[in-house]
Amino acid sequence: MLIGKINYKKTNLDKNNKYLKDFLNIYDLRPIKNNIGGMNIIHLYNLYCVIRKIKPTMVVESGAYKGLSSWFILKASPKAKVYCFDTNLNQLEFKSKRIKYFERDIKNFNFYNLPKKSLLVLDDHQNQIERLKQSILFGFNYIFFDDDSDDENHDFYTIKHQMKKKKFNHVLSISAIIKNFIIFFKLMLKKVFNQFISYTNLEYRLRDYNYFPSNILLINKYVKKIYSLKINNKFFKKNYPNIYFNKKRNGTNQTLIILK
Ligand SMILES: C[S@@+](CC[C@H](N)C(=O)[O-])C[C@H]1O[C@@H](n2cnc3c(N)ncnc32)[C@H](O)[C@@H]1O
Repeated sequence: MLIGKINYKKTNLDKNNKYLKDFLNIYDLRPIKNNIGGMNIIHLYNLYCVIRKIKPTMVVESGAYKGLSSWFILKASPKAKVYCFDTNLNQLEFKSKRIKYFERDIKNFNFYNLPKKSLLVLDDHQNQIERLKQSILFGFNYIFFDDDSDDENHDFYTIKHQMKKKKFNHVLSISAIIKNFIIFFKLMLKKVFNQFISYTNLEYRLRDYNYFPSNILLINKYVKKIYSLKINNKFFKKNYPNIYFNKKRNGTNQTLIILK
């Protein structure tokens, strides 16, 4: 698919299965066996291949959850500096002394002087276009986005929504709508008394996003390549059929972006 000057194409980073054996050996040793709500074997394999291929000097992960993807980041890049962010670090089941942890959103972090070959791994379910803008501002060289669905019922806006010129109407449950009303009401009450408010919480809960052609300009200006990461279908279909066929709302692939 050609958007503006950007070639958005599917690619298999491990066509000749160069990394597959290493990955499977490591996968058997993973410290967390139940990672429901986090990356499955296919996502982890793509992450592992990206890191082995790029050999980043620094990896920043946003959305650490239990710490399983962080563990694979360490295994794939024994020498890289690793920083992990999550808005709730209490969920961590695996921790490492090699990792610096931060309980906050990356958008409020002061990244400066990033080394060459810095990779940002994003699995925090935030709007991917907003994350792309932040990554450009911070000066990352590579971005790995988990979850590439362009489904209407997905959890957040993705690069794929953008590439297919789709807007995203976040579907809310009745309980979420009631909760949002309460949050909104409390914020407005504060405003009545002229108090400072932060609507980050509300913004996080209301994730609708339109298709803006200006984002294509942004991509054309700052993005070198966008890859939709594929895997060895035959192998995963045969050996991990449940995961392979369980596309759910998250899509099956991940996205790798190389910035200019
Ligand atoms: C899908 S899980 C991450 C799974 C993890 N990468 C793994 O597979 O091992 C998403 C995580 O993002 C975190 N999160 C939500 N909003 C965030 C934000 N704004 N910044 C950083 N993390 C956030 C959640 O607390 C949750 O732990």
